[in-house]
Amino acid sequence: MQVIVIAMQKGGVGKSTLARSLAVAAVRDGLSVLILDMDTQQSVSQWAERREADMPVVVFSTENELPKKLAQAKDAADLVIIDTPPARSTEAPAAVEAADLVLIPTTPDVEPLEQMPRTLRLCRGFQRPVFAVINQANPTGPGEVLQTREVIDAMDAKAAPIVLHRRKAHRDASAAGLTAQEYDPKGKAADEIAALWTWVRAELQNSNPA
Ligand SMILES: Nc1ncnc2c1ncn2[C@@H]1O[C@H](COP(=O)(O)OP(=O)(O)OP(=O)(O)O)[C@@H](O)[C@H]1O
Ligand SMILES: [Mg+2]
Repeated sequence: MQVIVIAMQKGGVGKSTLARSLAVAAVRDGLSVLILDMDTQQSVSQWAERREADMPVVVFSTENELPKKLAQAKDAADLVIIDTPPARSTEAPAAVEAADLVLIPTTPDVEPLEQMPRTLRLCRGFQRPVFAVINQANPTGPGEVLQTREVIDAMDAKAAPIVLHRRKAHRDASAAGLTAQEYDPKGKAADEIAALWTWVRAELQNSNPA
């Protein structure tokens, strides 16, 4: 079992969307996947209520419950994805400590990029592999992505090679209890998630070779 944590203090950058999208991509790849929803807003838990499929399993977890929930998942799940709340929290450090890989979604805006060093420090403190994931990029031009990559480089951090652009399919899918890959399998959002998952899977293998 491996653990991916999605963390970023700034709200609304796409943490929960990324957690759901990667979880479904992993399920489609044949893995048994558990999402631990550590955000009291419970947006992933509510998405699961709207959903008919029984995979991924979604379970809410407090910080105190986390070790037990992870122990229970050890034999039952191939992959656990933990969604964490925005703002300064005790959930994010507890999750990062348990991570094999941390992903920090950010939009190409100054506000989340200014917050990123806090999450990076947390990951470095626990010596966890960490990558930024640029999300909600403007689909019409690469300029802002190049600039965002420069800002992330300047933090001595790495960004995932795959960028997620702003695509309506993510919102529409969420409303239907689905992800973009399920809602619009031939769309660009689906392609981007598939490519991101392929890269994430390889990073997980690097971080923990079998
Ligand atoms: N690539 C994208 N394209 C279009 N819309 C997106 C994309 N990623 C996320 N969204 C939308 O942006 C909004 C915020 O996303 P999400 O809830 O995943 O962010 P979050 O970081 O989990 O927020 P919070 O900090 O409140 O938990 C949602 O309405 C979601 O559908
Ligand atoms: Mg969220």
